[in-house]
Amino acid sequence: MLSIRWRTALFAFVITLAVAPFQVLAQEVDPVRSRSGMVSSQQWIASQVGADVLSSGGNAVDAAIATGFALAVTHPTAGNIGGGGFMVIRFPDGQSTAIDFREKAPLTSHPEMWLDETGEYSSDLHHRSHKAVGVPGTVAGFDKAHRLYGAASWVDLVQPAIDLAGEGFELSEALAGSIERFVGGSPYEATVSAFSRGGVPYQAGQTWDQPDLARSLERIRDHRRDGFYRGETASLIAEEMRRGGGLITLEDLARYQARERATIEGTYRGYDIISMPPPSSGGVAIVTMLNILEAYDLAAMGHNSAAYIHHLAEAMRRAYRDRAEFLADADFNDVPVQRLTSKDHATWLRRNIDSERASISHPTDVEMPPESPETTHYSVVDADGMAVSVTYTLEFGYGSGIVVPGAGFLLNNEMGDFNAGPGLTNASGLIGTTANLARPQQRMLSSMSPSIVARDGKLVAVIGSPGGRTIINTTMQLILNVVEFGMSIPEAVAAPRIHHQWLPDRIRIEANGISAKIQSQLEQMGHIVQLGGRQGSANSIGIDLSTGERLGAPDPRSPDSGARGR
Ligand code: DON
Repeated sequence: MLSIRWRTALFAFVITLAVAPFQVLAQEVDPVRSRSGMVSSQQWIASQVGADVLSSGGNAVDAAIATGFALAVTHPTAGNIGGGGFMVIRFPDGQSTAIDFREKAPLTSHPEMWLDETGEYSSDLHHRSHKAVGVPGTVAGFDKAHRLYGAASWVDLVQPAIDLAGEGFELSEALAGSIERFVGGSPYEATVSAFSRGGVPYQAGQTWDQPDLARSLERIRDHRRDGFYRGETASLIAEEMRRGGGLITLEDLARYQARERATIEGTYRGYDIISMPPPSSGGVAIVTMLNILEAYDLAAMGHNSAAYIHHLAEAMRRAYRDRAEFLADADFNDVPVQRLTSKDHATWLRRNIDSERASISHPTDVEMPPESPETTHYSVVDADGMAVSVTYTLEFGYGSGIVVPGAGFLLNNEMGDFNAGPGLTNASGLIGTTANLARPQQRMLSSMSPSIVARDGKLVAVIGSPGGRTIINTTMQLILNVVEFGMSIPEAVAAPRIHHQWLPDRIRIEANGISAKIQSQLEQMGHIVQLGGRQGSANSIGIDLSTGERLGAPDPRSPDSGARGR
């Protein structure tokens, strides 16, 4: 009897003879190089702000905070002070930690809060109302990260964002178009006022200033977290909540705390994988999938060959099923992290993977709600080798769409990441399992997966992506691209990506990601394949291990992304 590895290799060989992989690597892309520090983000002005902080002696945590505040001004689809996210840090000595600044459910939340007055589930209430707003975490997260690990003065980290908001910055083609589409349908006066000139859309090339946002940032500069969670900003948020029927009160804001947590750690072929623990599902799922895939000779199959995509999809299917069943805020649930990330568990999951046939996802009592593709990821490395990986979000693009009147920033709609309600699971995609139901102070489950890769004690890459549930798969494929296929970090970022999430039972592949022949081979194996769109924006940094150079790899899928070295 041939071992799994040999059977896989034999199958891959036969497939390779039948049809050479259509697109082994994406186009060659040059990284941005620097000998000391690097910031890579979805908006180049914010990357420059972070690089300037590194130049003036700040460390990677300082640069990450400054970049995050700048993105709140220059990348309003996802950059934020009204949302939340995660920061994973690896120190030069190889230790790591994570800062959890995920939003929390307000004190008066309850699992049935998405039912309307007739008792029917309302997607609008869940995703597009004042009740969809979670207690924001970003400012508390940055404050905590800075108190624990920052070196520069707090004022110097917030001031560049104040200047960008107060003096304005030139709108790119992409951002002007995006804002015009967003503001066109907005029912909120403060939103229209912040994102247009009296209702007239801004054009590319015009300067966009945000005076209310500048004043909110000044309060954060002067009073740190209290400048957001207490005083004028807190009052403005609470007032808007009262006006629109939201739940967040002054008490919710005053009680918000970011948490420092132990990172998820796994290994893949001698590489160390460091990622985000619950309430993210990302770290656990990435380690589970890599543990499953470690038994196969993926390199022999060929990048994005039918055999390769099949094995990835089977690993994804199993990890996402576990995600739906087990993952949620571990402060409120017993999440079996050790078990899910163990090599033994992967062996168990692998037992029924057939190398030539797709399995079937059995819809039990678990399905997944829909998600939109807006969040943002950025990566930082400093001269000493401290690495910071941040993914943060408002959930939908522009979040709830609600700008706090007088405060100039958007509120998230992150409560949409909680399940719909007890017993509400149905075939159209609602989910009603208990672990991730809205409860006072619980954090909603996330897929955000800021991650760091190391080997033999040395930093290798800082990675992550937006994209809802695709985030986990995008991040995992970046690791495989580097480890299995020896791609440079820009190649790894540019290469076409695939996604399977257990349910719905289909593989999504980026436009032009595979040939018609490979699609037909996958279909013959029993997969449903959907081609099209783009997946993620993985603004990453790699390290050239021979020279120590930092290689900035902004994602070419995002027109305004950019890496800046110092
Ligand atoms: O936390 C999460 O998983 C989602 N709220 C992230 C949303 C997202 O990534 C949408 N974007 N790209």
